[in-house]
Amino acid sequence: MRKILFILVLLLVFYVPASAQGSVALTFDDGPSNVTTHILDALEEVDGHGTFFVLGNRCENYPKILRRMVRRGHEIGGHSWGHARLTQLGASALCDDLQRTAQAIEQHSGQPPTLLRPPYGSINPRLRLHAGLPIIHWSVDTQDWKHCDQHCPRRDEQQCAREVEKMVDNVLANLQDGDIILMHDIFGFTQQAALRLIEQLHAQGWQMLTVSELFAQRGIELQPGQVYYHTR
Ligand code: NI
Repeated sequence: MRKILFILVLLLVFYVPASAQGSVALTFDDGPSNVTTHILDALEEVDGHGTFFVLGNRCENYPKILRRMVRRGHEIGGHSWGHARLTQLGASALCDDLQRTAQAIEQHSGQPPTLLRPPYGSINPRLRLHAGLPIIHWSVDTQDWKHCDQHCPRRDEQQCAREVEKMVDNVLANLQDGDIILMHDIFGFTQQAALRLIEQLHAQGWQMLTVSELFAQRGIELQPGQVYYHTR
């Protein structure tokens, strides 16, 4: 019996570090939508967490999804009210947009947003001044939206599966510890791509954390108005 226990402990000690690649943050923009539920299912199945940069004008229609995110330890950030390019707004319109979005998130999720990701990743000094939250860019752009249904509505399922594989392989080939991965939770293709990526990340031993968890794990305190691309 003791021998078996000893072997088990040895296996644990050697197996866990060997499989652990590090940790990354999966982030999803432009939702919530019906796609989001499937992404949450996939993340929760592997004990992963995601960060969702939601549009203020969509919150009202998806309160259940937003509350589930909070309950299950995912993170919610703002992505503007209706996907305006925030750098083109004057100070007062900008503040209105940010405030309205934050209010909608708090009203429908039960918690205010903790992060901001401006649409198109467009950032200028005025946005940094008024953001009031850490601004989260990304270090890995999956370009999942480029394959989305509306761009090629007539391709077949096999072609779609090949594109998913290629996209996921690309991401995994270049992934580094502390990366922030950009995806979208809004199209059928982006759903398939996200599900496959989550499965593969888990299989390869990557830990999926929220953005705040990723930085906290490294002892980095996120500051309002500062822009972050990864934890390195
Ligand atoms: Ni967006």
